Amino acid sequence: MLTYGEYGGRFVPETLIPALDELEAGWRAAFADDAFHAELHDLLTRYAGRPTPLTLAERFAPGKRLYLKREDLLHTGAHKLNNALGQAVLARRLGKRRIVAETGAGQHGVATATVCARFGLECVVYMGSEDMERQRPNVQRMHLLGAEVRAVEFGTRTLKEATSEAIRDWIANVETTHYLIGSCVGPHPYPELVRELQSVIGREAREQVLAVEGRLPDAVVACVGGGSNAIGIFAGFVDDDVRLVGVEAAGAASLGGGRPAVLHGARSSVLADADGQVLDAHSISAGLDYPGVGPEHAHLRDSGRAEYVGASDEEALAAFHRLARTEGILPALEPAHALARAAELDAELVVVCLSGRGDKDLAQVT
Ligand SMILES: Cc1ncc(COP(=O)(O)O)c(C=O)c1O
Repeated sequence: MLTYGEYGGRFVPETLIPALDELEAGWRAAFADDAFHAELHDLLTRYAGRPTPLTLAERFAPGKRLYLKREDLLHTGAHKLNNALGQAVLARRLGKRRIVAETGAGQHGVATATVCARFGLECVVYMGSEDMERQRPNVQRMHLLGAEVRAVEFGTRTLKEATSEAIRDWIANVETTHYLIGSCVGPHPYPELVRELQSVIGREAREQVLAVEGRLPDAVVACVGGGSNAIGIFAGFVDDDVRLVGVEAAGAASLGGGRPAVLHGARSSVLADADGQVLDAHSISAGLDYPGVGPEHAHLRDSGRAEYVGASDEEALAAFHRLARTEGILPALEPAHALARAAELDAELVVVCLSGRGDKDLAQVT
């Protein structure tokens, strides 16, 4: 069963199928239950700080009307909390008291550690040792929040290996443990579940841009690692006549340069060789440094509904500094990739998802 055209599905050991079935049933029941939505809405507004504002970046992009959807202002500093809160509420409904997660940039790890502290759940976060080095402030935050951070020392020591380790832990402890995946990747129903939890970004952005401009934007732009902030903001505009532009790191362009293959439980567009062996990605930004991508993005690319382009490390760094100097906002390096391409896009009214703030990246940019 493939879920997005020729992509998606479940490519996992048999032992995980009952857990995925349980998760899907729990998710369908929660999604149909007003009490679930009311609890999540309450958390998103009173705890996390939604709605996030839409800010016109006049000096960053003169001659355009370029708006930033300010997920950097969400509690914990990135969009990842939308997903972590939703999955934590779901995990409690499923009776799971232990949470495992993977993290690259550390933002998903911090979001997961935050919700576990908030709900009194045990929390284990897997993180590549290379990422622990370059995103040190987030490792400190996770420790302060009471999470155990387990260093992953093999392979590229980044997000790919951290994800493999989290899945291994989940397989071994599936009775007690919920795997709180951080992007719209993994076996069905994760990509759908994460998309729905992040679609609040798109719903708000659509309403806000209509209120201030009286029309829909010409284009919506977001960075793509696993693809969750992009799929969340795209969800608000996918049925409209609006260009959807995803920006990958040039050295981790699984949509720009990948081929169909299986990674972490799903079939998608993956940086892989002709035998399907996964290749190493490289990006200055830990959150985009991943050779796979959510299967829905591969489908959106093939159908032509969304376009995907790349930005280099240097272009992202230049956009980072430019936003700092022109708007007084330090973006995370991940959305700096989106900013680099959005600034030069042939479109007048543009909304960019500013998926997170740059405090975690200070060691990389100075
Ligand atoms: C601020 C920020 N933006 C974007 C991403 C990339 O993830 P995704 O493509 O799932 O939004 C990350 C990942 O860690 C992140 O921290």
